[in-house]
Amino acid sequence: MVAATQGGEQGWSSRTAFVLAAIGAAVGLGNIWRFPTLAGENGGGAFVFVYVVCVILIGLPMVLVEIMLGRAGGGHANAIGSVADVAEQSKVSRKWSIFGGCEVLAAFLILSFYSVVAGWVLNFVFISGADFFGSLFSGAPLAGAHVGEPQEAVTGLMGELFASPWRMLLLHALFMATTLGIVAVGVHDGIEKAASWLMPSFFVLLVLITIYGAFTGDFARALAFLFTPDFSRLSPTAINEALGQAFFSLSLGSAALITYGSYVGSDVKLAPTAGMIAAADTGVAILAGLMIFPIVFTAGLDPSAGPALIFQSLPIAFQTMPAGALIGFAFFLLIFFAALTSSISLLEGPVAWTIDTFGIARRPAAVIVALASFVVGVACILGYGAWSDVRLLGFWAIFAETDILDTIDGFTGKVMLPLAGLGLSIFAGWRADRRLIEAQTGLTGGAFLLWRGLVAWLAPFAVFLILIFGLFPWLL
Ligand code: PHE
Repeated sequence: MVAATQGGEQGWSSRTAFVLAAIGAAVGLGNIWRFPTLAGENGGGAFVFVYVVCVILIGLPMVLVEIMLGRAGGGHANAIGSVADVAEQSKVSRKWSIFGGCEVLAAFLILSFYSVVAGWVLNFVFISGADFFGSLFSGAPLAGAHVGEPQEAVTGLMGELFASPWRMLLLHALFMATTLGIVAVGVHDGIEKAASWLMPSFFVLLVLITIYGAFTGDFARALAFLFTPDFSRLSPTAINEALGQAFFSLSLGSAALITYGSYVGSDVKLAPTAGMIAAADTGVAILAGLMIFPIVFTAGLDPSAGPALIFQSLPIAFQTMPAGALIGFAFFLLIFFAALTSSISLLEGPVAWTIDTFGIARRPAAVIVALASFVVGVACILGYGAWSDVRLLGFWAIFAETDILDTIDGFTGKVMLPLAGLGLSIFAGWRADRRLIEAQTGLTGGAFLLWRGLVAWLAPFAVFLILIFGLFPWLL
């Protein structure tokens, strides 16, 4: 058996490298595309409140569970092997690793549509880039081709993209190939290097655009929208959505953190690291809200526009704003950076498993997984055209109306990730050897008891209830 870390790789070169890569995994389309979309659709404040509660009470403890299982997993770099190994060390059935398997499969499926959506982002990186550079060269600073054009021209940009499966396919291929190129190089020279460039650039852009929005947009209204909860708008589905979003955004339940955890040295204290990941991820989601909604409100747009929010609403807003061409370009570049560090982590989990299981080298493993995931992504794209009538889980009320992409997104986010979380919380809270775990987390005394209490009692209970009522709303 070849371990994914063999072949000259020793895992992360430092704690900072690990933290950056893990934050890179967590911060992505989930924060900038999904979170504002969901908050907008579910009435703002109440959703944000439930989301933050889910992150603190369930997400954060589970981040520590996953990283810890990865490192404790005896040198296995894949989620299944790690869980099986911890089960063995704890003298319980190796079957618990089935939840690791659920994670690897979820990562594979998420990557497929993630790359399609990231392709949409690329589309706008190119358009806004052309606008921006075009305006530089035309001598009309910052007023690009689409700036100043009638609104319909901009609204049409997304329609044009969706009407062209070939364009979507090409962009999807481009994004997947970029991800593949980085993962194929390895943990140290690929994943770590990419994160150490992309994440700092991401943060600089995020802060700059938020400041810009605060000065030019309706910041007060955005604040009120995000932080004034109207609990009457909270449905069980919204709560399920908030929990699923917490899992998705923190990269839980999808092999990423277990795999990244397996590359962490024994000297790193895991608990504070988990705290940093959760804090950074949640901070970015809220900052993204504060970046996007002032612009949305100032331009008189609808915050509940759904997935079109950042691809249609925002370009309209950029069109009329001062330096809009520059801001638009910076904005889409920022999302692209965030998406790339996440897709890398989505690919790495299944790749590590493929390396371990079939004993093949990293490069072929990465090519095979990326190609297979690409093909599933193609099905998502066809869901916008030839296969628009296909309902993968049409028999199930909550998926009866969703296209292929939304079904895979919904099924992984609402079902698979929480299910893996449920299984692993029971495993870590009840079955895994307590001393082994205590030593791995580095927590002692009351802190350990609190963490274990949340993992053993609250997480399984809450996730179970939310799953039941979210997936079968008619039970209520
Ligand atoms: N957390 C990433 C995001 O918010 C997506 C992701 C999910 C990455 C699962 C890795 C694993 O965009």
